[in-house]
Amino acid sequence: MLVLEYLPVLLVAVSLGQSAVLDKVQPEQVHLSYTGDPLSMTVTWTTFAPTPSVVKYSTVPGPLLFNISAYGNATQFVDGGFMKRKMFIHRVTLKNLTPTQRYVYHCGSDFGWSPQFSFRAMQTGSSWGPRLAVFGDMGNENAQSLPRLQKETQMDMYDVILHVGDFAYDLDKDNAQIGDKFMRQVESVAAYLPYMTCPGNHEEAYNFSNYRNRFSMPGTTEGLWYSWNLGPAHIISLSTEVYFFINYGKELLAEQYRWLQKDLEEANKPSNRLERPWIITMGHRPMYCSNFDKDDCLQHDTVVRTGIFGGQYGLEDLFYKYGVDLEIWAHEHSYERLWPVYNYTVYKGSPESPYTNPLAPVHIITGSAGCNERLDPFFPLHREWSALRIEDYGYTRIHIANKTHIHLQQVSDDQNGEIVDDFWLIKDKR
Ligand SMILES: *[C@@H]1O[C@H](CO)[C@@H](O)[C@H](O)[C@H]1NC(C)=O
Ligand SMILES: *[C@@H]1O[C@H](CO)[C@@H](O)[C@H](O)[C@H]1NC(C)=O
Ligand SMILES: *[C@@H]1O[C@H](CO)[C@@H](O)[C@H](O)[C@H]1NC(C)=O
Ligand SMILES: *[C@@H]1O[C@H](CO)[C@@H](O)[C@H](O)[C@H]1NC(C)=O
Ligand SMILES: *[C@@H]1O[C@H](CO)[C@@H](O)[C@H](O)[C@H]1NC(C)=O
Repeated sequence: MLVLEYLPVLLVAVSLGQSAVLDKVQPEQVHLSYTGDPLSMTVTWTTFAPTPSVVKYSTVPGPLLFNISAYGNATQFVDGGFMKRKMFIHRVTLKNLTPTQRYVYHCGSDFGWSPQFSFRAMQTGSSWGPRLAVFGDMGNENAQSLPRLQKETQMDMYDVILHVGDFAYDLDKDNAQIGDKFMRQVESVAAYLPYMTCPGNHEEAYNFSNYRNRFSMPGTTEGLWYSWNLGPAHIISLSTEVYFFINYGKELLAEQYRWLQKDLEEANKPSNRLERPWIITMGHRPMYCSNFDKDDCLQHDTVVRTGIFGGQYGLEDLFYKYGVDLEIWAHEHSYERLWPVYNYTVYKGSPESPYTNPLAPVHIITGSAGCNERLDPFFPLHREWSALRIEDYGYTRIHIANKTHIHLQQVSDDQNGEIVDDFWLIKDKR
């Protein structure tokens, strides 16, 4: 294992004494993500000196021998702050896992090993009911929902977490030391469950480099946009930020839009739709909202909804055309459920059962996990497309029960875990 590239670590160790270097080679900020292949899982972690990237794991129950090994690579990431802090982001993908098998793992190298964590491999196929915890806008300070999410993760209540943009406030702050703190903080959830993300406005610094480098999302776009399958659902994660930070490249906006068109067309093919009827999107900034601030979603023609440069790249028509079922947003620090809506017209399935076979996508905005900017109040007037508004800290549970039923619940952390919204989205006539 003592290859030349780790020589600097050893030289530093010799000159400073072993303890000074130990904190640089000790793995930290361990987190998991799906790769898009249900029988794989990626483990990502950080060290502050170059070390090998190894994950050792065992199946449980059984003796903890850590006798299965997987190897990967580290990339050096230099934060854009004046200290130019250097970190090594390690990525190892565990392959050929046994569906639903629980594994215990640790990661690192013979220079230092992490504590042991565990996860359950995903089920294959589309005939099972994934359980998700979903939220946006969770910071390092005032991460009010985190303790409850930690507890529920340890109780094995979820298969995956979706964090819909805005992390740490911000990942790059204090020369990215807030990013390190945040990633250590969420390890208690993210080292046990795949933590799937999309970028928000708070990730903008240095061209989203902290976001792109710290997370390991499927595909080749460094997590800015990607899609993957989860049981009976096809999940699309996108960047709404390409509409707002045009200075990083108008091509990115066009590229994402073309990719979305292609991905949706594929997902909407009858054979795919039969297998995975649900199409769910997640993106940070909503098309609609009724908060009391100056955000873009207060505008009638939000750029995410109707596009820019004279109506190009608008997502509402695209998502409507391909029959997207559920759109998850954040950015507003509150919870809002919309009636099925397209172009400001409400399309309830029926007056009695608005969410049974609705004729337009259903939106929820769930951005109140907790951060140092606190909650966002609502505009006093009621909008006819808005079904329910809750100004509490909390997060959303989504149970994709089967090919026809999705159960959504809003958990209020302020009200001690009370369920403050509960509804079924049903599509049994496609
Ligand atoms: C690891 O050890 C367990 C228990 O002895 C054994 O059943 C399993 O086959 C071993 N796996 C590998 C890859 O060696
Ligand atoms: C590490 O990266 C190199 C070059 O990118 C690649 O050829 C190699 O297969 C990687 N090693 C592992 C174990 O993934
Ligand atoms: C920002 O990063 C993206 C890759 O995510 C790259 O395509 C783009 O050229 C970068 N823009 C600038 C201005 O560096
Ligand atoms: C949306 O509604 C507006 C006015 O309410 C109308 O002018 C426009 O044509 C509609 N757009 C589509 C795509 O139907
Ligand atoms: C889907 O789930 C719902 C809610 O649990 C249930 O009522 C329904 O029978 C299920 N459908 C199938 C085909 O299992």
